[in-house]
Amino acid sequence: MRVVIAGGHGKIALLLERLLAERGDQAVALIRNPAHVADVQKAGAEAFICDLEAASAGEVAVVLSGADAAVFAAGAGPGSGVPRKDSVDRAASVLMADAATRAGVRRFVQISSMGAGQAPRPGSDEVWAAYIAAKTAAEADLRARDLDWTILRPGGLTDAPATGRIRLAPPPLPRGKIPRADVAAVIVALLDDPGTRHQTLELVGGDSPIAAAVHGIT
Ligand SMILES: NC(=O)c1ccc[n+]([C@@H]2O[C@H](COP(=O)([O-])OP(=O)(O)OC[C@H]3O[C@@H](n4cnc5c(N)ncnc54)[C@H](OP(=O)(O)O)[C@@H]3O)[C@@H](O)[C@H]2O)c1
Repeated sequence: MRVVIAGGHGKIALLLERLLAERGDQAVALIRNPAHVADVQKAGAEAFICDLEAASAGEVAVVLSGADAAVFAAGAGPGSGVPRKDSVDRAASVLMADAATRAGVRRFVQISSMGAGQAPRPGSDEVWAAYIAAKTAAEADLRARDLDWTILRPGGLTDAPATGRIRLAPPPLPRGKIPRADVAAVIVALLDDPGTRHQTLELVGGDSPIAAAVHGIT
């Protein structure tokens, strides 16, 4: 399987690239910083330099051509302000989906976030509100497309080791945390199971082995 990953130097993305490479799949990491090439190659991925806030859908479609799946794992990240929540968390996902559509890549897994799809809690700061608005709009854009999309909304991300045990279900799930390593493994399982298309799934730590949890929602 050839999988093109937007935000290919992100923490989840690097873990995902390792998992794909270990089983012989090809990962292509879209990164904007040439200094990150060595890291993604070390993770077993091919690097492609592409600033998702500057590239055109046509340029990204060239990379996606011939791929089996696209994963949106980019994010403006902590420390970014309101404008970049829109230009990355919303617009870069829209760009990636436009590119996938042009390239005929139907399978698309989007990393969203728990909290998307709801109004921010009263008293939330403006950056959090902009983040949730951006994720909500990116989800809505993807749902309206004729693609085999799956929207994955993790809870609070940690850098703890993988547990292999999760709770995965359509919203709403109670708030919780989830190691990025488990999120990466869930994405692999979602890519393997096209029966998860057209689902929006929330993800936190839990008791179910990943394969069983993914199988259980199809
Ligand atoms: N933090 C949480 O608790 C939480 C909870 C739920 C969901 N999420 C979501 O989960 C996703 C992945 O999380 P993570 O921790 O793995 O993210 P991360 O480590 O912050 O990685 C995000 C990646 O996006 C890249 N990026 C930003 N702007 C870009 C651009 N213009 N072009 C290309 N790449 C760009 C960044 O590259 P640079 O290094 O070049 O900036 C970075 O490598 C994000 O969408 C995040 O919003 C987070």
